Amino acid sequence: MKFGTKAIHAGVEPDPSTGAIMTPIFQTSTYVQRSPGDHKGYEYSRTHNPTRTALQNNLAALENGKHGLCFSSGLGAIDAIIKLLNPGDEVISTNDLYGGSYRIFTKVFERYGIKFHFISMEQPSEIEKYINENTKLIWAETPTNPMMNIIDIEEIGNVAKKHGIIFAVDNTFATPFLQNPLDLGADIVMHSVTKYLGGHSDVVMGAIVVNDDELASKLAFIQNACGATPGPQDCFLVLRGIKTLHIRMERHCQNGREIAHFLKSHQKVDKVYWPGFENHPNHEVAKKQMRDFGGMISFSIKGNKIEDAKTVLENLHYFSLAESLGGVESLCGHPATMTHASIPKEEREKVGLLDSLIRLSVGIEDVEDLKSDLEAALAKV
Ligand SMILES: Cc1ncc(COP(=O)(O)O)c(C=O)c1O
Repeated sequence: MKFGTKAIHAGVEPDPSTGAIMTPIFQTSTYVQRSPGDHKGYEYSRTHNPTRTALQNNLAALENGKHGLCFSSGLGAIDAIIKLLNPGDEVISTNDLYGGSYRIFTKVFERYGIKFHFISMEQPSEIEKYINENTKLIWAETPTNPMMNIIDIEEIGNVAKKHGIIFAVDNTFATPFLQNPLDLGADIVMHSVTKYLGGHSDVVMGAIVVNDDELASKLAFIQNACGATPGPQDCFLVLRGIKTLHIRMERHCQNGREIAHFLKSHQKVDKVYWPGFENHPNHEVAKKQMRDFGGMISFSIKGNKIEDAKTVLENLHYFSLAESLGGVESLCGHPATMTHASIPKEEREKVGLLDSLIRLSVGIEDVEDLKSDLEAALAKV
C-alpha cells in the first residue's frame, strides 16, 4: 500500500455493528465482561480503547513499523521512552532539540540518576567518544528544532547497533510522509502528534512506533502503568487529520520552498535555515533520507537585535504568533523566549540560536499572501 492509501485506510475498518465508515468515538471507560476475564479484548480504556487502537495501527503503518502506541502528549511519549532506563544509565542526545525535551531530560530524569550528554551529531563518529558501558539510549531530532540541522539517521543507527544501544528519533518535524526512521535503522520513532499528524491545531497528543516486540511490550506496560493515554475523541480527530497528511505535507513543502527562497533574497534577513538549500551544511544527508524538505524555516535578522525580531513578530498577520507548529495555518515564534526559553542562553548560543532568530511553521495558505505578510512585517524593521 502506498502512503496516501495507508493514511486513509490502514488500521481502519468500517464499524462491524453498523457499517459506519469512520471509526466511532468509543467514549467509554470500561467494557462489560460476560464472566470474569471473558471479554472482547477490551477491559478498561487506559489499557485499550478501540478508537485508540485504530489510530495506533494507522500510525504504525505510516512509519512502516509493527507497533504503535499513543500518549496524551508528545512529552508523555518521551517520558515513556526514558522510563525504559534505570538510574545510572546514560543518554546521548542532539544538542539542538525541543526545549521541553531538554527540560524533561535535565529537570526531571537527571533527578532520577539518568545522565544526559548533549552533543552535535552532525559528525556521527563524534558520538563514540561519549559511549561507555552505561550508555543505553541515543536520542536524535532531525531536522533539529529550531536550527534545522540534519542528522544522518543511518550512520547514527550503525553506531547504535554496533554498541547495542537503543536509538530513538523524534520525527515530529519531518513526519512519516518525509522520513521513516525505522527503515533507516532507528529502534524507536516518536512524534508530537499535536503537530503535522493532527494537523489542525486542535489536539495535544504523542505517539511511539517500534518494530521490536519486546520493546513494544515494555512500552505498552509503561503506557498502561503510568497512564498518560489520550482520550477517544482526540484519537478520532487525529485519525481524521491523518487522512489528508500527504496532501497537506505536499503543500507545506511547496510553500516552505517558496518562503525559504523569498527570505534568502531579502535584504533585511541575515541567515535562513532550511535543509533544502544546496549550501545547507547537511543538504546531501537531507536529500538522502528525506523525500522533501518540509515547511519549517528559521531565520535571523541582520544586526541580530531582539527588538527587530519582536517588530517582525508583532506585525505579521497571517503568521500567528504562537507556540507549536504543523497546523494548516502558518505560525511564527521566537525560540529564545518561547519554545526554547527553558534552555540556558549559553547553551542556546552554542548551537547558533540567537536572540533575533524567528521560527516559521509555513502553513498551506496561498503562498503569495504569506510572502506579502512577511514583506510588510520586515519593512517595519
Ligand atoms: C520536536 C518536538 N518534540 C516534542 C514536542 C513535545 O510535544 P507535545 O507538545 O505534544 O507534548 C514538541 C512540541 O513542540 C516538539 O516540537
